Amino acid sequence: MSVFAGFGSDNHAGVHPAVLKALETVNPGYAVAYGDDETTAQAVKLFKKIFGSGCNVYFLYNGTGANILGLCSIMSSFNSVICTDVAHLTVHECCGPESFIGCKLVPVPAPDGKLTVDLVDSCLVGIGDPHMAQPKVVSLTEATERGTVYRPEEITRLARFAHEHGILVHMDGARLCNAAASLHVGLGELAGKAGVDVLSFGGTKNGMMFGEAVVFFNKELSTCFPYIRKQGMQLSSKMRYISAQFIAMLEGDVWLQNASHANAMAHVLAKGLRKIPGVKMTQPVEANMVFALLPERIIPELQQEFFFHRFDERRPEVRLVCSFQTTADEVEAFVSAVRKVVR
Ligand SMILES: Cc1ncc(COP(=O)(O)O)c(C=O)c1O
Repeated sequence: MSVFAGFGSDNHAGVHPAVLKALETVNPGYAVAYGDDETTAQAVKLFKKIFGSGCNVYFLYNGTGANILGLCSIMSSFNSVICTDVAHLTVHECCGPESFIGCKLVPVPAPDGKLTVDLVDSCLVGIGDPHMAQPKVVSLTEATERGTVYRPEEITRLARFAHEHGILVHMDGARLCNAAASLHVGLGELAGKAGVDVLSFGGTKNGMMFGEAVVFFNKELSTCFPYIRKQGMQLSSKMRYISAQFIAMLEGDVWLQNASHANAMAHVLAKGLRKIPGVKMTQPVEANMVFALLPERIIPELQQEFFFHRFDERRPEVRLVCSFQTTADEVEAFVSAVRKVVR
């Protein structure tokens, strides 16, 4: 029996048909390389419509590149980034920020994956002291690595506090679409309008084949980015294939349909699991992820049938992620399997 990979992550899913169609449509003939093509111009126009005409947008291959290069353009090696201890930036980017930017990351314990003004405030030490890294950026992840979401007013509060202290706000928006769908707000409301300065906007986890964007809400911050993107090996020569995918996602409501479906499936999954004795939810379900404690003994047995990650190696807490592709039958199959092995 092959292992079902659907709950491992949202990038275990395939590519949405609308995106595949867009790739086929953009394929015939020739187009100028490195982003000087009509499709890219159209995609940039669309981003400006969604995020505001004052932003600058650049397309990249992946989310790690978007995070690190976006930060690189607003920091020096003597600066620090305040983030949570579960931020992708600090846990899953293989010291990329430290190595590429040379900066320091300050991970703050945040059980629900969210920073607060008080947590950020506690990190503002050593300002002006040449012996200490100088805080320069607060990085928020929306939706968070714990499947929770920041409401627009929470982002605004954090951004206001950060700006009052000369700190910029970066957002890892690998799952921004899931957060916006969950909160019934526009994408811009959670980013530039809430005070975010630089956004990594994710496409891959919501149905694209590949492609992420870095959006600067303060154009002055993006002055060096074209050079940084090239140096960082994220300048795609056949850019039109990233741009066309974004158009397919954002022109209509494919992004919203995909994210809403993934979120809905996570709720169905959580509802099913909650009814099983011995299973305990560890986070509220606010986007497309479910976190649960399972009896230790059943995890290896379940993993023979389903691929999923243990969130924390030290305790039997698992992370289950739903995608635009997850079906109710797949959710039911997982819940039934848990029910069966738990007995
Ligand atoms: C919150 C978050 N940010 C960024 C990324 C990076 O994406 P990529 O794998 O495209 O580098 C991921 C991927 O898992 C993620 O979960």
